[in-house]
Amino acid sequence: MNNAWDPDLYQKKHSFVWQLGQDLVTLLDPQPGESILDLGCGTGQLTQAIAEFGATVIGIDADPAMIAEAHQQFPKLAFEVADVCSFRLSEPVDAIFSNAVLHWITDPVAVIQSMAIALKPGECIVAEFGGKGNIATVLAAIATARDRLNLDPSPASPWYFPSMGEYVSLLEQQGFKVQLARLYDRPTPLEGQNGLRNWLAMFATRFWADLSAQQLETLLAEIVIIARPSLYRHDQWWADYRRIQVIANKL
Ligand code: BEZ
Repeated sequence: MNNAWDPDLYQKKHSFVWQLGQDLVTLLDPQPGESILDLGCGTGQLTQAIAEFGATVIGIDADPAMIAEAHQQFPKLAFEVADVCSFRLSEPVDAIFSNAVLHWITDPVAVIQSMAIALKPGECIVAEFGGKGNIATVLAAIATARDRLNLDPSPASPWYFPSMGEYVSLLEQQGFKVQLARLYDRPTPLEGQNGLRNWLAMFATRFWADLSAQQLETLLAEIVIIARPSLYRHDQWWADYRRIQVIANKL
């Protein structure tokens, strides 16, 4: 992953990440006594939600600040700092859960291979993440704003938003049988009148590493102006999220 995370901003303004992930926990359907890996657990709210079903959960995340916060909030749960592309568990698990993480991994084969090693044969991954077309309006607004301000073109996107066909093929090539795959629009409400700006500050820092503080202010204001007609509705900012949801079993 390649973003500087601020656990405080993440928790105060982006709690939708795990609130909207509750449906994925329902899809996972954790059973008492099952061992489950929460891959990219962030500050641990969904790890806790899974543990409440009586499962034994371990949460891993590459970001030490997120894991420190998870330990503090849920001291009875197991969390570890680990790279999701190269982690290894001491014992294979009954299921792997992953919400809003896999789009941060630009080497999808490495993470799929690591998940395959971590799972017992026959058991499954339940995952959701950004798919092809995710936040297309936000990305276009950033590019247009940079262009209008005569800045260099946007740096390369740090995200991996595959088509459903592409991701299903990768899973099959790595020895998974895909039970469910869907790509769907999930417009996501952003909190407060500065919702888009806060989202950008949390997740999109890559797009202005080259700018001074003053240039950044001008750029953010321009992005907001450009995006507003499409993403501000009913007194609320909405991110144009498009998700891939998959369930796939290791053969
Ligand atoms: C997402 O959840 O789709 C997402 C979050 C942050 C950056 C990009 C995408």
